[in-house]
Parts: sequence; structure tokens; C-alpha cells
Amino acid sequence: MLTIQLFLLVVGLSMLSLAIVVAEREALQAREATWNRRLIDAQEHERSRIASELHDDIGQQVALLLIEINQFAKGAEISERAREELRTLCKAGTRISSDLTGISHNLHPLVVDLVGFEAAVRGLCQRFTERRSLAVQLHCDGVPAEVPHAVSLCSYRLVQEALHNVVKHSSASRAGVELLAADGWLTVCVSDAGSGFDPAHAIGGGLGLISMRERVRSVGGHFTIETAPGSGTRLRALLPLPRHAGDNTASRDDLRHVARNLSVSSE
Ligand SMILES: Nc1ncnc2c1ncn2[C@@H]1O[C@H](COP(=O)(O)OP(=O)(O)O)[C@@H](O)[C@H]1O
Ligand SMILES: [Mg+2]
Repeated sequence: MLTIQLFLLVVGLSMLSLAIVVAEREALQAREATWNRRLIDAQEHERSRIASELHDDIGQQVALLLIEINQFAKGAEISERAREELRTLCKAGTRISSDLTGISHNLHPLVVDLVGFEAAVRGLCQRFTERRSLAVQLHCDGVPAEVPHAVSLCSYRLVQEALHNVVKHSSASRAGVELLAADGWLTVCVSDAGSGFDPAHAIGGGLGLISMRERVRSVGGHFTIETAPGSGTRLRALLPLPRHAGDNTASRDDLRHVARNLSVSSE
């Protein structure tokens, strides 16, 4: 009898310590997710601050400078050669101005709200092709005109970071981006046929893959990486559209949508 009681006590204690270990691990994972989320929010906030300064401050100064040079070139008694020099300067200034606009759009994808999700991703892919010499093939199917802000921002950042990684790490000169919406889910895929990598050793090396995973998790989606050294890389996110979104996400986005239509802020 005593043996059975002892046995039950040992089993009970083991189960209790197992439950404590599991609970501690879950609490640790929850804390890690919260910190990652805060890090992403802080990064987003900082990016939008820098974007505003670039656009509103430096961008405006360059625009003013260009207007002044143009006015001077028109009015001044100067030689044709000097006038030609000024035209060349204006062209260089215009290029700087459009680069600044590109950088501030990359930093703060307000463009997602302005031109719509699909058009914003199309522009992003074009910029990679034009400026980073990466031939990006975009395929879209069934993407709705209205994608909730949280999902579109998450997808835009995912494509952006994934294409950066293709340029930086893969040695590939082509990449594919797919946006497919069906049955209340949006699938976002970014693939390349480059060097590939061992995901077990890569996650945690930088912030890119971690922030993709956290962003996807925070909108209630699933994130997978298919890759191996020498076999290219395929990142895939499955994101819920309103039909599948959790109550919180859906209601927040509904509020934003209503507020946008009424031209008032939802914040
Ligand atoms: N498309 C890719 N092709 C090859 N390696 C990649 C690719 N994407 C990510 N990696 C590997 O995963 C690592 C982690 O990526 P990431 O988290 O974005 O950090 P970072 O880009 O700052 O190094 C990279 O250092 C690289 O080794
Ligand atoms: Mg990266």
C-alpha cells in the first residue's frame, strides 16, 4: 500500500514539475513575442519619422533649390554654356529628389494606403528591378481592392525584406513574388533560385526573418520557409482576410475603414 502511495506521489510530483516547466516555457515564448512585437513597432515608428524628415524637410529643400536654379537660369544674363551647366545641375537635382521620394516610400509605406495594396507591391517590385538590378516577376490573382491595413502592411514589409535578402544573400538575379487571394486567405510568396541556406542556423542571425515571422504571427497568419543550401529559397505567408481574421483585428480594421471613409482619424 505504501509502495503504491509512494509511486503515486512520485508520479504526481513529476507531472507537477513538467506542468511548471511547460508553463514557464510558454510564458517565456509569450514574453519573447511581446518584445519582438515592440521592437517591430519601434522600428516602424522610427522609419516613419525618418521618412517624414526626408520627405518634408530635405525633399522640400531640394525642391526649393531646383526652383531657384531654374528661375536664375531663365532670368540671368549668362552664356549658353553656363545655362547648359545649370540644366545638368537641375537634372542631377531632380534625380536626387526622386531618389529621396523612393527612399521615404520604402521607409514608410503610406503608399499602401494611398494607391492600394496590389499597386504598392507592384511599385516595390519595379523599384527592385530598376534600382537593384533584380528581375522581379510579380503574379497576382484575386487580390481584393480592400485589404485590411494590418495585413497589407505585413505583406508589404515581408515582400520588401525578402527581396532585400535575395539581393543581399542569394546571388540570384531573378525573384518571384506571388499574391494570391482565395477562400478568405491571402498567400504571399517570395522565391528565388539562389544559394539557399540552412534555416536552423539563419534565424536569429539578423532581424529580417524574425520580424517577418512576428509580423505574420501578429495578424494571425502562418509563416513558412522552404530552403536548403544550394536549393533556393521560398518564403510563404498565409494571412487571414476579414472572413478569417480574429475578432480584434477585424473590428480594428473595420473602424479604420469607417474612419477613412468619414475622413476622421481612428487613432
Ligand atoms: N533569399 C536568401 N538566400 C540566401 N540566404 C538567405 C536568404 N534570406 C535569408 N538568408 C540567410 O538568412 C540569414 C538571416 O536573414 P535575416 O534575418 O534577414 O538577417 P540579415 O539579412 O540581416 O542577415 C541571412 O544572413 C542569410 O544567411
Ligand atoms: Mg535581411
